[in-house]
Amino acid sequence: MSEVNVTELDPDRLPEHVAIIMDGNGRWAKQNGLNRVRGHEAGAKSVRSVTELCRELGGIKTLSLYAFSTENWRRSNAEVSALFALLSKYIKLEINNLHNENIRIKFMGRTDGLAKALLAEMRDSEEKTKHNTAMTLNLAVNYGSRSEIVDACKAIVDDIEQGVLAKGDIDEQSISDRLYLPETQELDLLIRTSGELRLSNFMLWQLSYSEIVVTDTYWPDFHKPQLMEALREYQSRKRNFGART
Ligand code: IPE
Ligand code: IPE
Ligand code: MG
Repeated sequence: MSEVNVTELDPDRLPEHVAIIMDGNGRWAKQNGLNRVRGHEAGAKSVRSVTELCRELGGIKTLSLYAFSTENWRRSNAEVSALFALLSKYIKLEINNLHNENIRIKFMGRTDGLAKALLAEMRDSEEKTKHNTAMTLNLAVNYGSRSEIVDACKAIVDDIEQGVLAKGDIDEQSISDRLYLPETQELDLLIRTSGELRLSNFMLWQLSYSEIVVTDTYWPDFHKPQLMEALREYQSRKRNFGART
């Protein structure tokens, strides 16, 4: 059972697709007199609580979490290695639990630069959970939105060269269909923790009309009550999609 009161939310107006820029692990560690890696470890616990609540609520069909950006390679080798070690540990620890909860796991991002063993774990976990239907957990690893759009453009050119697509037929759907996870494009709610007011190259195409909630809470302190708060905020918004109000 959850430690939050889920009846505070309107079950018919839950966002179908929630994405989170999980930021602030380093600042949380500093605040607590710990090194940055301890902050990332603590952040993994938040991944668990947030996934659990989304699953419990039922209406949220997809949760996308930004775990490692194409720009995060600019960090020290030690921190980058620690982040990938943590991802591997997370997969090993959580995969059975996710599977039992009927959650499908998917990864989005480029594979170059990732260790073969980690890639195998990622592929195995996708394979094991591919028939699960309750919710999809997308983990963005070595993900950059601009790279994703560049890769989609290349796929379009390939299809034109092979004669399966005509230039005149290219539309928004043609690009959406060639993103890393074409089946989960529309984003209803983007949450960013730790107060930064920027997108940091995350899902730029998909969040054209998503609601954005930024909280000052550092990611390791973001648990079920904080997610409830963000969902209440989402439900208080009026979405127009360009129509008259
Ligand atoms: C987010 O926390 C985790 C990753 C980007 C991998 P940070 O490590 O960016 O934490 P801050 O922003 O330095 O506090
Ligand atoms: C965004 O956070 C990337 C992830 C959460 C994985 P960063 O901490 O890397 O973003 P910037 O550098 O502050 O924009
Ligand atoms: Mg950061």
